Amino acid sequence: MTCEGWVEQDCRYMRKERAKVGERLYALRQVEKIYGEGEGRVAALQDVNLDIMAGELLAVIGASGSGKSTLLHLLGGMDLPTRGEILFQGKDIVRYGRGKQARFRNQNIGFVFQNFKLLEELTARENILLPPLIGRKKPNLRHYQNVIAQMGLEDRQEHLPGEMSGGQRQRVAIARALMNEPEVLLCDEPTGNLDQKTGKEIMDVLKKVNRQGTTVIMVTHDLVLAEQCDRRIQISDGRIKKAFT
Ligand SMILES: Nc1ncnc2c1ncn2[C@@H]1O[C@H](COP(=O)(O)OP(=O)(O)OP(=O)(O)O)[C@@H](O)[C@H]1O
Ligand SMILES: [Mg+2]
Repeated sequence: MTCEGWVEQDCRYMRKERAKVGERLYALRQVEKIYGEGEGRVAALQDVNLDIMAGELLAVIGASGSGKSTLLHLLGGMDLPTRGEILFQGKDIVRYGRGKQARFRNQNIGFVFQNFKLLEELTARENILLPPLIGRKKPNLRHYQNVIAQMGLEDRQEHLPGEMSGGQRQRVAIARALMNEPEVLLCDEPTGNLDQKTGKEIMDVLKKVNRQGTTVIMVTHDLVLAEQCDRRIQISDGRIKKAFT
């Protein structure tokens, strides 16, 4: 992958001001998400009021169907609430138009999924370099080298996902999510497809990323992993349980 053919000004590595650890990163106010209507109406989230601080390692737990993934999608600007405000560094991302919402995601958010969501026909290296490509930025190759070293992927760069173990694939997915130096890593059951030992390794990787200043918000069914986070919120039938810390 090269920068060839790109407009020079698109190749600048755009850097925004990073949130300071302990500052309020998100403020959700009266957030509601309704899917469908009539008999098919589902209130996936209701009356959600939530503050998340920069630098937090936050676990989101709750039964299947309680609204955990819906919450992550809203935090990442992948979907819009039916009602309410989602302030990110003081700005309401709900009001962004499509283009601005896409830029918000590309610049601030890294996503990690249970099933990795790697492009099977691309090598690890090509998968990891996708976010800057999508954001029309010149890949920061020094950052790329740091990230693959941090993920222990130096000898897997030219492999296809099908040639890697589940733990290695997830490390590629985390590396990809970190490529644009996001403010937040949103992880939806990142250890859900992994055995216990590999899941623990991935948790250790996420903790390391968090210690370096990235806010990590992780949906998990694994209470042992949730215990290792700074804070836990439990969602029950679309509502955040207040009593749980
Ligand atoms: N696109 C959609 N259209 C209609 N209903 C949806 C949609 N996405 C989610 N839902 C519904 O919203 C509710 C919350 O779903 P969500 O995926 O957020 O749950 P979850 O807590 O992540 O569950 P799981 O632990 O099984 O992943 C569920 O009742 C689900 O069926
Ligand atoms: Mg889910």
